[in-house]
Amino acid sequence: AVDMEQLLAQITREIEPQIGTGSVADYIPALAAVDPGQFGIAVALPNGECYGAGDWTKPFSLQSISKLFTLALSLSENDEDIWWRVGREPSGNAFNSLVQLEYENGIPRNPFINAGALVVTDHLAGVVGDATEAVLDFLRTEAANPDIRCDEEVAASEEAHGDRNLALTHFLASYGNIHGDVRDIVRQYVRHCSIAINCRDLALAGLFLARHGIRRDGSRMLSHSHTKRINAVMLTCGTYDAAGEFAYRVGIPSKSGVGGGILAVVPERCSVAVWGPGLDRRGNSVAGVAALDRFTALTDWSVF
Ligand code: DON
Repeated sequence: AVDMEQLLAQITREIEPQIGTGSVADYIPALAAVDPGQFGIAVALPNGECYGAGDWTKPFSLQSISKLFTLALSLSENDEDIWWRVGREPSGNAFNSLVQLEYENGIPRNPFINAGALVVTDHLAGVVGDATEAVLDFLRTEAANPDIRCDEEVAASEEAHGDRNLALTHFLASYGNIHGDVRDIVRQYVRHCSIAINCRDLALAGLFLARHGIRRDGSRMLSHSHTKRINAVMLTCGTYDAAGEFAYRVGIPSKSGVGGGILAVVPERCSVAVWGPGLDRRGNSVAGVAALDRFTALTDWSVF
């Protein structure tokens, strides 16, 4: 058996030189103000036990990791319909790129680039009304923490600098691939990206992916095969145009966000949440990737 507490302390020590390196996301001004010298890691086991080290109870901005929850909620609400509107191939382009959309007729490559996530938010909003509330409700229940909130300052900052996401959404709408009101969909998208969460709560919220779709209360959220598919899309598309390198180095399904968080899954064994605000040039946490690299090396828990 793995001594988790000792393992996480060891990882935190080993990656110390990486903490504070990289640069914080500066295209969202409220994120540019975050102290880059922070680092946290949490591991949740299928029985609900959770271990952590470093700044693992300090909230950070969920950002693109929210795309995982909107996808999971869409699949649980409305089965396979979403796959008519978004693909499942890595994009090889930056997460907020516009170029592929025109020559691929308004069908985004995958649900984890901004264009794809905007379509998923639109789809989910069409089923549940408000995508942000659906994500918040899910996170609060799985983490047993009613205090998880959207950081309105981050949301406002992101909306004030939201020209790209508005452009993407208008462009998608011109192909008929946005059904709701463009401004409303971008607002919902920005608000679920702006949720503040800590490593502990994030690891617990991601545990359904390690448990073949079973939630905290034992109820089934997703079928076994839907859960496998989400994990597959995380592995191939979850870290953007660095997904190949990430699979090579770390080897487990993961989803990153520009707040510096990464949620990773080892099916049947655990979920892992890491956070370090300093990003590499593709938008993935430098310390977070290093920690997951050490985690899979020391446990030998890669999926390969
Ligand atoms: O739309 C955006 O640009 C941000 N709300 C989310 C981007 C993000 O997290 C990409 N991550 N690496």
